[in-house]
Amino acid sequence: MHFTLIQQNLKENPRSWLVTGCAGFIGSNLLETLLNLGQTVTGLDNFSTGFQHNLDQVKEAVGPEAWQKFFFIEGDITHAGTCATVCKGQDYVLHQAALGSVPRSVADPLTTNENNITGFLNMLTAARDAGVKRFVYAASSSTYGDHPTLPKKEENIGNPLSPYAVTKLVNELYARVFASTYGFKSIGLRYFNVFGRRQDPNGAYAAVIPLWFGALIRKSTVYINGDGETSRDFCFIDNCVQANLLAATAGDDAADQVYNVAFGQRTTLNQLFSLIRDRVADALPDRAGVMPEYRDFRPGDVRHSLADISKARDLLGYSPQYSVHAGLDMAARWYMNHLMFWPGEN
Ligand SMILES: NC(=O)c1ccc[n+]([C@@H]2O[C@H](COP(=O)([O-])OP(=O)(O)OC[C@H]3O[C@@H](n4cnc5c(N)ncnc54)[C@H](O)[C@@H]3O)[C@@H](O)[C@H]2O)c1
Repeated sequence: MHFTLIQQNLKENPRSWLVTGCAGFIGSNLLETLLNLGQTVTGLDNFSTGFQHNLDQVKEAVGPEAWQKFFFIEGDITHAGTCATVCKGQDYVLHQAALGSVPRSVADPLTTNENNITGFLNMLTAARDAGVKRFVYAASSSTYGDHPTLPKKEENIGNPLSPYAVTKLVNELYARVFASTYGFKSIGLRYFNVFGRRQDPNGAYAAVIPLWFGALIRKSTVYINGDGETSRDFCFIDNCVQANLLAATAGDDAADQVYNVAFGQRTTLNQLFSLIRDRVADALPDRAGVMPEYRDFRPGDVRHSLADISKARDLLGYSPQYSVHAGLDMAARWYMNHLMFWPGEN
């Protein structure tokens, strides 16, 4: 209900938004929603893990009139001058650009650090200097690290288990210091395994859901790292989009905070495999009997993850609309229709 009112209000009073990482998975979904609401959006991306075809799909989805309100800048958040340029005149910044993936950061911590910490600090500084109304950034559930308690509550974090987790924790530390030192209050959204349309199924660092959709559709082996009882709180993309819009438009009393963004339900990898296989088999019946192959646990991965989402509910009015099952139904339809955009791998 609250979200419906926010959307109505934005339609009636369009704003200027900056979405960094707009050619990526989450960024392109934010872009699509904002353009559909008649907003003016500047997008920044360096195409390191994002794609022109994601932008092309948004263009097709929103139509020519909405697309005219989109201004794309190919650039890098590691360049402070670029960040300053794109932040000028914006009401809200949704900062998504970063190098994702725990294993990528284990393989190359320096590059992850450069993008996720230096890039973040450039953006935070530029947003502060431009006087934007709100800076909302993609934080991560990896910040819970080795803290054993479930469900995860925002105030109880452990030690980071990977270079990626360090970078996301440092983002939160900088955000808090910018609030206490400069009075610039931002909002961090700790995403828990977001999934849905346009999430890349290819490459060594693909996330599990697109990877498995890709493997099952293309008839290649599905690997499960560990015994399959590792669990995650998988969150459909539209829930994540909702959280971003609520955070951007929230009052000052909800700012200078981090919030869990999840559905609030735990699914094991074994359960997830069955859910994905069943959906693919609806369209491709010969996949019904496919079984996964088990291999070693991956270094840096946490064993279980489940969010307490009551803080986001109470302070932002967050109310996730899509369960894991409903989200997987939509993701399945999308991957069945779109895998031709990613030729080759798997
Ligand atoms: N997907 C998830 O489950 C998840 C979970 C926790 C946190 N996050 C965070 O959410 C954000 C978005 O993730 P995503 O899943 O959409 O990933 P993604 O890789 O699809 O999108 C990231 C985008 O940022 C761009 N980018 C990267 N470095 C850049 C740079 N230096 N300058 C400009 N653009 C740059 C990439 O090209 C890409 O388009 C990231 O900050 C990620 O760490 C995602």
